[in-house]
Amino acid sequence: MTTQTTSSELLKKVQSNFIGLDTVYTIADGRKTKRIYLDSTASTLMMGAAHDILESFLDHYANSHSKLHFSAKISTQVYDWAHEKILSFLKADPEIYTCFFTGSGATAGLNRIARVFRDFRPDKDVAFVSLMEHHSNDLPHRKHAGEVVHIPLDSHTGNQPGCLNLEALEEKLIEYQDRINYVAVTGVSNVTGIINPVNDIAKLAHQYGALILIDGAQMAAHLPIQLSGHDDPDCNVDAFVFSGHKTYVPGSPGVVVCRQDILKAIEPEEVGGGMVDDVFVDRYIVKDYFPDREEAGTPNIPGAIALATALEVLERIGMDYVLEDETILIENALERMQQIPDVVIYGETDCNICPRAGSISFNIKGMHHGLTAAILNDYFNIAVRNECFCAHPYVKEMILDDMLLASESMTDEELENDYKLIAGMVRASFGLYNTSNDVDALIDALKEIVSRKDELTQNYHVDESPDYVHNTFKMDVNNRFSVPEFVDQYMAK
Ligand code: ALA
Repeated sequence: MTTQTTSSELLKKVQSNFIGLDTVYTIADGRKTKRIYLDSTASTLMMGAAHDILESFLDHYANSHSKLHFSAKISTQVYDWAHEKILSFLKADPEIYTCFFTGSGATAGLNRIARVFRDFRPDKDVAFVSLMEHHSNDLPHRKHAGEVVHIPLDSHTGNQPGCLNLEALEEKLIEYQDRINYVAVTGVSNVTGIINPVNDIAKLAHQYGALILIDGAQMAAHLPIQLSGHDDPDCNVDAFVFSGHKTYVPGSPGVVVCRQDILKAIEPEEVGGGMVDDVFVDRYIVKDYFPDREEAGTPNIPGAIALATALEVLERIGMDYVLEDETILIENALERMQQIPDVVIYGETDCNICPRAGSISFNIKGMHHGLTAAILNDYFNIAVRNECFCAHPYVKEMILDDMLLASESMTDEELENDYKLIAGMVRASFGLYNTSNDVDALIDALKEIVSRKDELTQNYHVDESPDYVHNTFKMDVNNRFSVPEFVDQYMAK
């Protein structure tokens, strides 16, 4: 059996075993249909293996700060394994890096590294972030790093904007060489899915004396990552942060991977139990080994173990294969969406120029993004996200660019006014469990929405939120899922 066949078979086995693939809802025409989940960039569904390991592990669950009883030994050993797994998954040399868990997404980790880098090099007061960042990899640097400089996007061959502009980055690095502390960029955009060449960016940053932080929230589930061991050590990454709930394990923590020497040079950012060797009333002695030094308090042990299990599964499929398979899906969706009249896709659509993973954001001309998303849900049971995806500057840049492509003569004021009317997009995003059937369903739905635009629009009004709501159809959430009802039934057993 070839490696390719093995990967393909493993992927098929794993992709059909996620929690929530069979969820059924009643839609606007009264039919009960299976939900098509195209919102993985917000949060992925849970991998069956991660769910099952939790059930099995909870028989042994104990605090990893306890030491001598059987369950504590199992918990501690498996929790240690979770750290090792994460470093090996990201190809981060355990002699050089440590990893620790914090928060529930990437936000806590990105804030943490912003403070760590600030304290590590207090004489450097500038951080660069790209224009394509999620707020979680922009605002922490504005708050903690001093001055933030935004690096523009590359419009490659004059087409739609794509990844970070490396030439502009280098120019700014030269300009700010004396003050630059670090460059913080996303590996994959949560809006367009466009992939940044993170190791090339690392090389540039290092050449000008800057550190490099990668927001890997949209990377870890989608593509192979190599933090260290490059032939050119400048390509190595100093810190990397990702999110468990975007990596097939809702309920798992966020993850920080960072060079140990950076962390060791400063006092740990967070203090409390578990990270000290001894505490006296007038002083305390911080542990000098990782990851304990960075993990104050009782960690989310089950979540970390479930996340590492999902990574083990992904590793066995092979991340090269995961990316290859997803690329086929994304290219198929992009190509067919471009053929639908009135569908506008944001960002460079030629994957040979700008490869993508995970997300495609779009609008239907003449329709508000909120209306398109509501119709996709109510009539087609397709779950997508809309609005600005916590990436306001990037979304605005993309929409303005599209307006300018349509009419170069628009004034700034006209652009601003028209932008206010749109100010958002619809995002279809993909995970391991999505297949070409899901792309077919999206394409069919979009075609139908475009062809029945006026008729469908008449079925909606804008409520006080203001959200688009159907005039007559509404899901009764309490009837569909109620915790008190669950507890009633549980107590009555
Ligand atoms: N950061 C998440 C998103 O992009 C929530 O949708």
